[in-house]
Parts: sequence; C-alpha cells; structure tokens
Amino acid sequence: MELKDSGLLKTELFIAGHWTGAVSGATLEVDDPATGRVVARVADGGAEDARRAVAAAEAAWPSWRGLDALARADLLWAWHDALKAHRDDLAAIMTAEQGKPLKEAAGEIDYGAAYIRWFAEEARRGYGEVIPPPAGDRRVIAIRQPVGVSAAITPWNFPNAMLARKLAPALAAGCTTVCKPATQTPLSALAMVELARRAGIPEGVINIVTGRDARAIGGVFTGSPAVRKLSFTGSTAVGRSLMAACADTVKKLSLELGGNAPFIVFDDADLETAVEALVRAKFRNAGQTCICPNRVLVQTGIHDRCVEALGARMAKLSVGPGTGEGVDYGPLIDDAAVAKVASLLEDARAKGARVLRGGGVIDGLGPRFFEPTLLDGATMAMKLGCEEIFGPVLAVMRFDTEAEGVAMANDTEYGLAAYLCSRDQARCWRVAEALEAGIVGINEGLVSTELAPFGGVKQSGIGREGARVGMAEYQETKYLCLGGLGAGS
Ligand code: SIN
Repeated sequence: MELKDSGLLKTELFIAGHWTGAVSGATLEVDDPATGRVVARVADGGAEDARRAVAAAEAAWPSWRGLDALARADLLWAWHDALKAHRDDLAAIMTAEQGKPLKEAAGEIDYGAAYIRWFAEEARRGYGEVIPPPAGDRRVIAIRQPVGVSAAITPWNFPNAMLARKLAPALAAGCTTVCKPATQTPLSALAMVELARRAGIPEGVINIVTGRDARAIGGVFTGSPAVRKLSFTGSTAVGRSLMAACADTVKKLSLELGGNAPFIVFDDADLETAVEALVRAKFRNAGQTCICPNRVLVQTGIHDRCVEALGARMAKLSVGPGTGEGVDYGPLIDDAAVAKVASLLEDARAKGARVLRGGGVIDGLGPRFFEPTLLDGATMAMKLGCEEIFGPVLAVMRFDTEAEGVAMANDTEYGLAAYLCSRDQARCWRVAEALEAGIVGINEGLVSTELAPFGGVKQSGIGREGARVGMAEYQETKYLCLGGLGAGS
C-alpha cells in the first residue's frame, strides 16, 4: 500500500493523547482479504489497556465538557477537513484491510466525514426547553448535558463511517470516548484518530484500543461505572450479551444490530427502477451491510420478468481486488464469511431453491471472491429466510397479494431496513407504514445518509444514529425546578 502521507499508517493504541504499544507487548496481524497477505501488525491490547483508556477518557471529561459548544464544533470541523484532505490515503488503507473497491472506500470516507460535519453543525444546537409551570411561583426548565464517557465498539464492514457516526455526536455533545474497532480493520480507525490528533482534539477525548480479545476489552467498557454509554454496531447475538453486561451499571445504550431486510417488488413497480435499486442495495460492499436486502419478495405478476432482468443486470457486475479498475465489489472479509454464505446456499439448494447464476467462489481470483449469485424459489423455511446472508446472493421469493407480501416481510425477529418498489403512491404509503423496520427505502436502494435517523426496531437494535436525534443519544435531560419566585403580577 503506497500512501502520500505514511504517517497515517498507525499500529499502536492511542491513549491519553499518546501512541503506545499494548501493555503485554503483543501484536496482531491485519491481512488483506483479497490476497490473505499481512498488511500490518497492530498492538493487541487487552483489559489493562482498556482500563487505561477509560481512565484517560474520565480524566479528560471535565475540560471537554466545559469547553463551549462553538469550540467543540470548530475542532470537529478541523477533523472533518483533515479527513477530506487525506481521502485518497484513507481509502487506500481501507481497501487494503477491508477489501472494498477504492471508489467505494473513498465514498465511505466522504460518508464518515459527512457525519463529522453534521455533528459539528449540531454541536451548537443542544437546546433545552422552558415548560409552562404548574404554579405561578415556579419555572420549569429542561437542559441537556453530556452523558459522560462513551464507549464505541465498531464493525469491520464500515471501518470509518461507523466510528465517525458514534464519535462525532459523542464529541459534539461533550462526551469523551473509548473505542474498540473490529480486529479485522483497525488501521482505518487508527488513521482517523491520528487525524483527530492533528486537528487538535485534546488528549484523552478519543482513546482507542485495538485487540483480539473483544471480551476482555468490551468487559472493561461494559463493567466500568465511569463509562456511562455504550454504542455498538454488530450482530444481534453480541448486542444481546453487551446489553446484559451493561445491566449492572445501567448504561445508556445504542445498538445497531443484525438485519433481514425484505425488498418487495410489486406487480406495478417500474422494473428498471426496481432492478437498479435492488442491485445497488445488495452488492454494496459485496453484500456485507446490515441493510442489504436479504430476501427479495416478488409479486407473481412481475416475477418472471424481474428474475430475468436481475440475471441480465448481474451479468454486468465486475468482481475483483478493490484496487482494480471498474470493480463493483471485492472479496468477502474472511474465510469464515465465505463458509457461511456457502452453507446458506447449500441449505437453500437442498430445500428446493434453484441457482440461476453464480453459486460459488470465483475461479482464479482467490478463495474469498464469491460469484454474484441469483437464487429463485427461495422460501422462508430456508435458513436464509431468517439468517443474514452477508454476501452477494440475491434470494428471490414469490408472493401473490399485498397482504401476503407484507406478512412475509414482517415474518422475522429483525427490523432494520426494508424496501419496496411500486408506482402506486397510496400503496407506497400503506406498505411503508405497515413494514416493521426502522428504515424503509421506497423505489430507492441507497438510503444511508448522515441527515436521516439510522436504526432498527425489534431485535435490530435500540436508538438512532445520525440526524437531529443522533446527538440526544449522548445527552441526558436534566429538569430544573425554580421555586419561590412569587405569584407574579
Ligand atoms: C451497516 O451495515 O451497519 C451500516 C450501513 C450504512 O450505514 O449504510
């Protein structure tokens, strides 16, 4: 990996404003999913490092909280500008450790920077309320204050944007932070933190602990009374255990967990719009996003034309190393991810699904490149009806009536994203309101933006990230009752 600024390739923990090795001296390897080659060795932190990080965040909190909102906003702006100025290097680092195409990685840098810009703007808008009092001699006021030290545990699929979406509102609100990025993709997070340091964000405000022992590091974050908030993006299973671990200290929680997004194509959909929206939503990051369509529900009247058009569109997808020209998607993150997709396909085939295109690893590209795969005749009885595929597989299921389509869409414990395509405005509203999901794309596959509240219902999580509500997740509301003011005239 060639960088214009080699100082962005950081491999140590960042605690109290200093780059430092793990207490144990251990390191871990970060590999390139496209080749399996080691791209860097990074500090392999543990519980003791996590404790030092929490102590640093706790020590930094009074002065960060005490800074006026404009000063915090200016520092966030400086961080945003630094990210944009180093966009190419940050994208190169991301592609090397995550595998997504360079163009998509650069798009993620913009996406992450957009969260920082948004919360730089919001930092000055932590408004409270003056509430009409119950008696004339009182005044009732609600103010908003930072929660305190906030922990962020982030995933490998968006190594920049997910960290930005947690750190930016925390910093804007006046919280200090401790972070644990995914073991597979620590380099993007470390580079971001180096840019935060250069932007002048004071020591102790952001602390980062990389390491393999997620239980030990997460255990310190969840168990520490000093940590008042935890934000996690990842699987529902891990989310549940983090939630349980936070119970003893009753922390505020934001959980962005798994999904099982339905993509409904009604008979009255514009076929070209539907196919384009579906392909863009599904093959983003090789199908490895929590909001990727997992089940494609197609109404009988349009089914055959839709499946044919999907096959034709998928034939144009180009798969290869993220550094290649014109690549639509790259490798899956690791061997376990490939094995999971293959086993879901095997189960679907055994239960009667037909593989119309793809179905395995691509010859000659290495073991982690999976073919764009189109399945027809999928059903809710297959494992992929209830489990996240997290790979480039489109599984088509058929339905007859609108009510049946909606019932199938909602037949899942998850409720993160859902999509529908129809030209009937009344149906769009009706179905969007009936879908049990936190996010609904209507004739649109790319729904992610810093302006909108991102999050799920049911077992897809708690809380919202981004948007106006995003900063409130890092604030407490305090009610002030002023008495003895006299009856007034
Ligand atoms: C995710 O997969 O968790 C996030 C996707 C997004 O922000 O678009």
